[in-house]
Amino acid sequence: MDVISVIRTKRDKGELTPEQIDWVIDAYTRGAVADEQMSALAMAILLNGMNRAEIARWTAAMIASGERMDFSGLARPTADKHSTGGVGDKITLPLAPLVAACGAAVPQLSGRGLGHTGGTLDKLESVPGWRASLSTEEMLRVLDTTGAVVCAAGDGLAPADKKLYALRDVTGTVEAIPLIASSIMSKKIAEGTGSLVLDVKVGSGAFMKTVQDARELASTMVGLGTDHGVRTVALLTDMATPLGLTAGNALEVRESVEVLAGGGPADVVELTLALAREMLDAAGLPDADPEKALAGGAAMDVWRRMIAAQGGDPDAPLPAAREQHVVTAPATGVLTRLDAYDVGVAAWRLGAGRARKEDPVQAGAGVELHAKPGDPVTEGQPLLTLHTDTPDRFAYAAQALATAYDVAAPGTPYERGPVVLE
Ligand code: URA
Repeated sequence: MDVISVIRTKRDKGELTPEQIDWVIDAYTRGAVADEQMSALAMAILLNGMNRAEIARWTAAMIASGERMDFSGLARPTADKHSTGGVGDKITLPLAPLVAACGAAVPQLSGRGLGHTGGTLDKLESVPGWRASLSTEEMLRVLDTTGAVVCAAGDGLAPADKKLYALRDVTGTVEAIPLIASSIMSKKIAEGTGSLVLDVKVGSGAFMKTVQDARELASTMVGLGTDHGVRTVALLTDMATPLGLTAGNALEVRESVEVLAGGGPADVVELTLALAREMLDAAGLPDADPEKALAGGAAMDVWRRMIAAQGGDPDAPLPAAREQHVVTAPATGVLTRLDAYDVGVAAWRLGAGRARKEDPVQAGAGVELHAKPGDPVTEGQPLLTLHTDTPDRFAYAAQALATAYDVAAPGTPYERGPVVLE
């Protein structure tokens, strides 16, 4: 087999054979196919697509590139959730302990932020002492003793995806449905969860900008999971505006703890509960009562144990950025739009995210929202507070926000859309 013929097949809109797929994934993982060759193939896939059979084989080859985990020895059924990525998407933080408090085991192998979307591990690392990297034994012990674990995937899990995802990120080939579906599902299937709920984000702050594309991604991933014996369901959820009132690492942890304490923004609570119900249903625990577990403090108890089990101090003050800058409402009226992508870019520029994988992030950096679409605002009132340790970034972040919001005349009717679209 030679890589040029594989690239030519897809470049010329052909169907890759199972042998071509198995060979190219294996050869790329071993280093026998170069990055520039794989990026040409990824671009051909982005432009010409793959059919369901090709996607299934591609996913299977990525799973086979590494080890598989096995949670079948646990006493509880396993339930996992994966979001396709958004702005202010801190849902894993309250959700994992909540679902664990209701009787499931929640193994959340999570990622770091890249670009404008945040990453769960970066958020949790703002908790003093908390460690993302665990050995497999440590991970299983935390899962067994607390019911939930959020940690980095080990290097042995779907290594083909690790290489390919990093390559796609720098070659403009992230936004291809076959590549996103196979990337996410290879990791989730290799992880060995029994059930999986996918939170497929739609809107400016998501990879999928239209409901139609999100539906295709969701149904592709549900098909892959089901074929591999994982009970998989997907929700399409809104990412036109940030979730909650914060985007940034420690800021989002603070908001998640508010949710676990029975407060927090309504959209974060609504989505957390909707996903919890789906996870518990998929895990075979349909009678569990997540509302009670949240209101009664059981989820907070699991959170505290889960953080402490990974070296974190749940009582330690969270880091705060050294400098703040307030963006005020330009007029009196109704806020009718606050763009998720622009807020995500601003948070990233303030230091909450990284431009290259090896860059550090600032724990306290990010954007705090003082109003959501539909809220009345008064000229000069704080609309957003920008947080950073490096104030020379304020102007650059503010540029991203220049067209991020609209204020309509007072009394303009505004109907808030649902958080869960489908
Ligand atoms: N998340 C992933 O893990 N992979 C993608 O391709 C996109 C989002």
